[in-house]
Amino acid sequence: MKHLDKKSLEKLNQRISDHSLRCLGQTSNLIDFSSNDYIGFSKNKRIYTNTLNLLEKNNLKINGATGSRLITGNHSLYALTEDYIAKFHSVEKALIYTSGYNANIGLIPAICQRNDIIFFDEFCHASIREGILLSNAKSFKFKHNSTKDLKEKLSKTDKNATIYIVTETVFSMDGDSPNIETLITLSKAYNARLILDEAHAFGIFGEKGCGLINSSNSEAIFARIITFGKALGCHGAAILGSKDLINYLVNFSKSLIYTTALSPHSVATIYEAYRELELTAAINQLKKNIVFFNSEKERFQLQNQFIESQSAIQCIIIKGNKKVKKAALKLQENGFNVKAILSPTVPKNEERLRFCLHNYNTNKEISLLFLLLKKLL
Ligand SMILES: Cc1ncc(COP(=O)(O)O)c(C=O)c1O
Repeated sequence: MKHLDKKSLEKLNQRISDHSLRCLGQTSNLIDFSSNDYIGFSKNKRIYTNTLNLLEKNNLKINGATGSRLITGNHSLYALTEDYIAKFHSVEKALIYTSGYNANIGLIPAICQRNDIIFFDEFCHASIREGILLSNAKSFKFKHNSTKDLKEKLSKTDKNATIYIVTETVFSMDGDSPNIETLITLSKAYNARLILDEAHAFGIFGEKGCGLINSSNSEAIFARIITFGKALGCHGAAILGSKDLINYLVNFSKSLIYTTALSPHSVATIYEAYRELELTAAINQLKKNIVFFNSEKERFQLQNQFIESQSAIQCIIIKGNKKVKKAALKLQENGFNVKAILSPTVPKNEERLRFCLHNYNTNKEISLLFLLLKKLL
């Protein structure tokens, strides 16, 4: 039987009637306000050339890893790169995964076991929620970025339970951040282990783009997830933590064990992108663009429609899938690559246009974008 069953077909038809059908589009040459290439590293020529040189130097002129890391795929660039990453982020150890999605679904179910309790932010990324679903732990949402709600929930929890708190340092669909110092204080007070996903903070915030966790507070974090497909402009992710944690994951994390390792080329690109972070001025320019974008919100008196954000992700709420899609289309017709974020990806009536800012966006482009937005709204 090659046909979809009735239930699946109905679900697909529901997407059509909700104006939320997803389709694979094509890449475009419009002005980029939607890619995750925040500091332009995907097109960085020095990273590209240095990667090829590193492969040559290590005599790794091969196309694939040939196996999982525990079988034949653990080529020499893994140790070089993981050591570099651990030092860069002031942690004992780093473990590279094939993607951020795989890191989250590999970490959470391996670590969080039966009768453990997970508290997670209600807006956490799909990969975190999927990881929680795959685990045998009990899980409870807390209100978005609300340390008050989290504290209330923690205070009612069995003191003998093993507790995990999972959240993001910059939210992918909102661009906002929790109060990390309060999270650390709470995790200490309630003996909870804190897991932070830094996908959209790494490469943007902190010294040399290390993220919102740095050498002064990294000791308090149980595990950190950083991804390389966003600001680093390449592919993959890493989990940062203690030697014991990494050793445990090598033994029990299914998405690390049962998948083909990244190719030497992918790992070499990660290594060279890290080295580029030590040299680049792109992060400073991105920060200037974030400040300018925020000042334009005020000049055009649109600040109240935007979600408050100091990050490279900026969102304006336009309620309803149909309406927000129409607004995105208008901007695209005027040369801007801007994407509509629809429900159910975000809650109903919180549909939004999401603007990703980059070091290579100009003030002129940003001002023009606001002029169009003002007209549209
Ligand atoms: C917070 C967060 N975590 C994890 C991921 C997944 O990362 P990757 O694209 O490397 O699978 C994303 C991607 O959008 C994300 O936003």
